[in-house]
Amino acid sequence: PSLRMHALDGLMFEGVRLDAIAQDLGTPCWVMGAGTVRARLRRLREAAAEAALPLGIHYAVKANDHLAVLSLLRAEGVGADVVSGGELARSTAVGFDPRQVVFSGVGKTPDELRAALGAGIGQINVESAEELDQLSALATTMGRAARVALRINPDVDAGTHAKITTGLADNKFGIAYADAPALFRRAASLPGIEPVGFAVHIGSQITEASPFRSAYRRMADLVRSVRADGLPVSVLDCGGGLGISYRDGPEGSPRTWFAAIRQELGDLDLRLMIEPGRWLVGPAGLLLASVLLVKRTAGAPFLVLDAAMNDLLRPSLYEAWHGIVPLSPRAALASRQPTNIVGPVCETGDSFATDRLLPPLAPGMRVAILDAGAYGAVMSSTYNARPLAAQAMLDGERWQTIRERQPVPALWAGETVPSWCAAP
Ligand code: LLP
Repeated sequence: PSLRMHALDGLMFEGVRLDAIAQDLGTPCWVMGAGTVRARLRRLREAAAEAALPLGIHYAVKANDHLAVLSLLRAEGVGADVVSGGELARSTAVGFDPRQVVFSGVGKTPDELRAALGAGIGQINVESAEELDQLSALATTMGRAARVALRINPDVDAGTHAKITTGLADNKFGIAYADAPALFRRAASLPGIEPVGFAVHIGSQITEASPFRSAYRRMADLVRSVRADGLPVSVLDCGGGLGISYRDGPEGSPRTWFAAIRQELGDLDLRLMIEPGRWLVGPAGLLLASVLLVKRTAGAPFLVLDAAMNDLLRPSLYEAWHGIVPLSPRAALASRQPTNIVGPVCETGDSFATDRLLPPLAPGMRVAILDAGAYGAVMSSTYNARPLAAQAMLDGERWQTIRERQPVPALWAGETVPSWCAAP
């Protein structure tokens, strides 16, 4: 809806001609639509209101941690879910109230835990008995009490790509379901720890309600049994994971997600939270690229772009499918033929699409790679000494650069050369 082809101006995102941004910033460059993020947040909140679910929304910062995106969501009144000291620092830098921040993650350093406690973080999701002990010791030394939720591994198959499923017993994430009651009891006896409840997150890019439902049912059983043991449980963090539509299937529905939460957990008088990332920002981001050359072969031609796996890693890492659309209105009308779309990095895996139906494109023409707002720019690297791409944000009809393309000398900032490496 926010993306449309205009007969003269070409591909428009919200109210901005994408060609204008590409011209100004050069390619590759990222574009985030602020209006799209706001609209998606509104839909999420409307679905929660419809389900009569008071839900604390904590944006999963890992999906896109640009200060502008964080600032926008902060202004809309959501909380944050962070997984590192860096994400905590980014969040507080744009004014998130630390009490509205949850710290998740399977390994947190003592420095990160100290920073979180020092800032007065709202909740720490603890993933192991070992971490609980460390946190107790640290909090006691600092004279603080850490509000803790135990992240439980419910052993539920989210049915997503193996590299992004997290809730199976043999994944590294969370505390084994069977160990949860005893560990919660132990947490209640530890100094510096205030156990408030549980957290669960089974994976990402989930488009059906059933895995959520199974996980929440198990969590509800756990809450009941821990309460039956006489321990108070007030919080349940339902995690993130709601998927979007990259290809032609339907996107994950907030309504069915919230119906599952309501049905399984709604009667337990819990303070419920969610940690969505991808669903909020994924469809709000694009990667613009130019065609460097078209390489004819015996099979489908190779379209070599100036964007590569170092910019958008998802196709290489997960064989993820991203829509690819020419910016030019004329190109969009031509008949389509199978094309291989690749980047210039020296890796066979540096490919965006194989046998994709696209109109014939000539060098210099531009394309948009769609649904790149989540796990896009944040997963970029500078492999092959390729500078981090520029970024723009638009909002309705206005747009602004939100990150300059990384200057080449910045690629080696911080590097030093020992004297024995230099020529005499
Ligand atoms: N909460 C926790 C504890 C998580 O581990 C994650 C994501 C989220 C929330 C947010 O999940 P979301 O709503 O965005 O699905 N790089 C991969 C995705 C990795 C997701 C990691 N955890 C990709 O590009 O598909």
